[in-house]
Amino acid sequence: MNEKEKINKVLEVINYRCTVRAYDKKLISQKEVDMIIHGAMRAPTAGNMMFYSIIEVQNQKMKDKLVTTCDNQPHIAKAPLVLIFLADMQRWYDYYVVSGIPELCAEKDLVYRTPDESDLLLACCDAIIAAQNAVIVAESMGIGSCYIADIIENIETHREMFNLSKWVFPIIMLCFGYPKQDPSKRILKQRFPKKFIHFIDTYKRLNKEEFSEMFKDFAKDTLVKNAENLGQDYYLGKTGSEFSQEMSRSVKVAIQDWVKKE
Ligand SMILES: Cc1cc2nc3c(=O)[nH]c(=O)nc-3n(C[C@H](O)[C@H](O)[C@H](O)COP(=O)(O)O)c2cc1C
Repeated sequence: MNEKEKINKVLEVINYRCTVRAYDKKLISQKEVDMIIHGAMRAPTAGNMMFYSIIEVQNQKMKDKLVTTCDNQPHIAKAPLVLIFLADMQRWYDYYVVSGIPELCAEKDLVYRTPDESDLLLACCDAIIAAQNAVIVAESMGIGSCYIADIIENIETHREMFNLSKWVFPIIMLCFGYPKQDPSKRILKQRFPKKFIHFIDTYKRLNKEEFSEMFKDFAKDTLVKNAENLGQDYYLGKTGSEFSQEMSRSVKVAIQDWVKKE
């Protein structure tokens, strides 16, 4: 069996996927939307409890507003399909209330556990895993996608826009659309060499020499202003940037509200 034969259709979709930010005018049909949502819902989910919900943003004014609330990304407004994946514990806690759990706990002298940080992380896992299934299903149909993490910014505005209660957190957004660019002309982005990502049995911190090897093939044409090396460029452009600071503020507010006891 040669290398080509070993690559099945699923691997092909995974191998040739790339983020798509420029969308063709061609619309995504209702059937395709249904297949994307179905794929998301077939993803593994903790305890089969589906700690997530999905909001399809159809309203153009809302898409326009998301451009600014999500760090000024104009492609959001042009995406034919926008899905927000919510980490959602609200549904289960509303169900627990209608099932009489607070009373049951009081009666049996049990602690009535309301969602804490661990539940938020678990619900985020569920939501993100569902989102990635949606990406792969879309890609398999020739529909490109782009994750937008900036949906975790501006929590107050997003809560108001989408009627989110305290145990519902918008962990990730996805824009979908048929790619404007011919997929056969795609240039896939490099990844770090496997040995720096995949460890056996124990985690390994890297030294200076290993970092230089890790970034060897990461050609960067332009460095951001004031940056002298790639590390500075990433820090100034990403980790230490204004949008990261807004993420940090917004998520702190969301977590504080999530864990607040009534
Ligand atoms: C959690 C997450 C958040 C992302 N947020 C954004 C974003 O806000 N805007 C954007 O244009 N791309 C975003 N991306 C796409 C990444 O930039 C892209 O996946 C990365 O550059 C690798 O490129 P590739 O997907 O084409 O391999 C995000 C991806 C992930 C996984």
